[in-house]
Amino acid sequence: MNITIVSTTSRKGSKTLELSVFIQDLFRRKGLDVQILDLQHLPEDFFTSVLYRSPKSDSFQGIQELVTATDKFLFIIPEYNCSFPGVLKSFVDALDFPKSFRGKKGGMIGLSDGTQGATVAMSHFSDILNYLGVTLVPSRPRLINIGQHFYDGTMHQEIYTQHIERTLDELIAL
Ligand SMILES: Cc1cc2nc3c(=O)[nH]c(=O)nc-3n(C[C@H](O)[C@H](O)[C@H](O)COP(=O)(O)O)c2cc1C
Repeated sequence: MNITIVSTTSRKGSKTLELSVFIQDLFRRKGLDVQILDLQHLPEDFFTSVLYRSPKSDSFQGIQELVTATDKFLFIIPEYNCSFPGVLKSFVDALDFPKSFRGKKGGMIGLSDGTQGATVAMSHFSDILNYLGVTLVPSRPRLINIGQHFYDGTMHQEIYTQHIERTLDELIAL
């Protein structure tokens, strides 16, 4: 089983990446070695030589191969203007269709500084994943006021860890 955590923002110093690393460790404790795909590391020529280009520049090949080889995705989604980050949609638009996602499995975990926990963001993104043919696990944790509960790489809200663990267990079992 090849699982990839996608840190779905390219913002430097994001909580999303910090949380992704925390979740990678939770997987490790379950005996699973999973990789993180950090959208901060999209190639510099992404918008000029990858997106909507055929053939795409070689700079994207490693990322495309990683996605193609992945069976199960866990998307960590921050709330940006009441939706998911635009770079996530561009990333999806740049990937090969349909082989990148069709018939695969997925889960989502949302986070925000405010009180929505990326609820609407995850709803928006689930429409896209549904179109692409990804089967999603039922649980979808919404981690609100994230800055108060998760800092220095440590979760200070036990119920958040429990919700995340449930999503990981569902994704592993799916
Ligand atoms: C462009 C942008 C838009 C944002 N919009 C919202 C928002 O609509 N609601 C909210 O609660 N937080 C919003 N935030 C705050 C993020 O939810 C917060 O930074 C959180 O830590 C997750 O994002 P991060 O991974 O970039 O740190 C926004 C942040 C950015 C950078």
